[in-house]
Amino acid sequence: MKETKVTMDKIVNLCKTRGLIFPGSDIYGGMGNTWDYGPVGVELKNNIKRAWWKRFVQESPNTYGVDAAILMNPRVWDASGHTQNFSDPKMDCKACKQRFRADNLIEDHSKGKVSAEAMTTEEMETYINENKIKCPHCGNFNWTNVRQFKLMFETSRGTVDGEKDVVYLRPETAQGEYVNFLNVQRSMRAKVPFAIAQIGKAFRNEITPGNFIFRTIEFEQMELQNFCKEDTALDLYEGFKEKAKKFLLDLNFNPEHLRFHDHEKLAHYAKAACDIQFFSPLGWEELNGIHHRSTWDLSRHQEYSGKSMLYTDPVTNEKYLPNVIEYSIGADRLTLAVLTEAYDEEPLENGETRVVMHFHPALAPFKVAVLPLQKNLSEKAREVYALLSKEFMCDYDEAGSIGKRYRREDEIGTPFCVTIDFDTLEDNTVTIRDRDSMEQIRLPIDKLKDYVAEKIKFN
Ligand code: GAP
Repeated sequence: MKETKVTMDKIVNLCKTRGLIFPGSDIYGGMGNTWDYGPVGVELKNNIKRAWWKRFVQESPNTYGVDAAILMNPRVWDASGHTQNFSDPKMDCKACKQRFRADNLIEDHSKGKVSAEAMTTEEMETYINENKIKCPHCGNFNWTNVRQFKLMFETSRGTVDGEKDVVYLRPETAQGEYVNFLNVQRSMRAKVPFAIAQIGKAFRNEITPGNFIFRTIEFEQMELQNFCKEDTALDLYEGFKEKAKKFLLDLNFNPEHLRFHDHEKLAHYAKAACDIQFFSPLGWEELNGIHHRSTWDLSRHQEYSGKSMLYTDPVTNEKYLPNVIEYSIGADRLTLAVLTEAYDEEPLENGETRVVMHFHPALAPFKVAVLPLQKNLSEKAREVYALLSKEFMCDYDEAGSIGKRYRREDEIGTPFCVTIDFDTLEDNTVTIRDRDSMEQIRLPIDKLKDYVAEKIKFN
């Protein structure tokens, strides 16, 4: 197991200098809680989304993908309960005017020993006052009361001149799956149990800064809603806890860095809820959720839309509202978890240390880097690049010593470096170096594609 202590600063620094993730609107001094994926980061995140889709849609029978609109009829959010209840308990420091989540203050102060999850607003206030929890920013103890802040972003849509209707940026992708339940079921002739999956942007007016892409105001979710009969729902729920964990283990997560966390406080309609937490530089944090939501979502949409959401069993003709088992994971949060899991600092024989990202090869931003040993070998190197880039995302680098180029590729987790040397011109072979073992072997150019393709598979 690696010994390196991964800090958020190291990850943020590497991400900025190596083209993974930049602060949003950087030249304007940034904008709190927004981040831009750079040329390397966008590949990593796309590969994460692809791996999720492959596992949970492509390889999962009876699972159908959708891509629903971000702006939905505002009645959707009345039905889901978001317009009434979607808020966070927040308090302001009167001295420095910084705003904090009351539950986070309690959990940070108690080093995770006290959970504020089930506390009321009054209980949080009492705890903070009794324990004299100070402002983490300025050190004063001078708080406003705890107040509930709405998390949904509002925007407006002009209909008639001068008149405007409020619409919301969706705070979760799930509702796009619920409202399309019957569209998908009928058009795809789906039979319960079946699932609808979606990857897309969600927006929340979060105010907890300083934790990089862990919690942002704009993020992507990968969500999957399983529609099932009530008597199979609990088994499906338990099964999804395991499937969600297996997905992470197959992406090379250390099993000791993952744990289940059952929710203490359940929504009144929920029968069970569980997070998978990962061991991050911030401590144990939620990575994804699995929720047994009973018939709540479909029944609410039935009530608010006035349209029947009943499913008719094609064999028995029984009509019923299916239960929903939801599996939801943030693509950006998973990206952070993948980054912290992959990061390592390894001592080298020459006394130097290399930073290396041990990404699962299927997630690596570039699969191969093509490196001519000297600039006058670049024509042959370009030929190899052209061949490989038809199949994989490849990097090309001819500047600097070969050692420095290897270090750069290690830092962005490129699993294979192909070196072109003078022998290549003679016998059409290249050296291929493995990122993790740093071992090098010689291969004919025409064997490269198959060699790499075999090694980067995600099953
Ligand atoms: N539809 C259920 C739902 O949205 P959630 O627990 O609020 O449940 C699911 O969110 C997942 O989305 C979280 O486990 C996390 O991975 C991600 N997520 C939620 N809020 C986020 C934020 N502000 N920034 C980044 N990821 C977030």
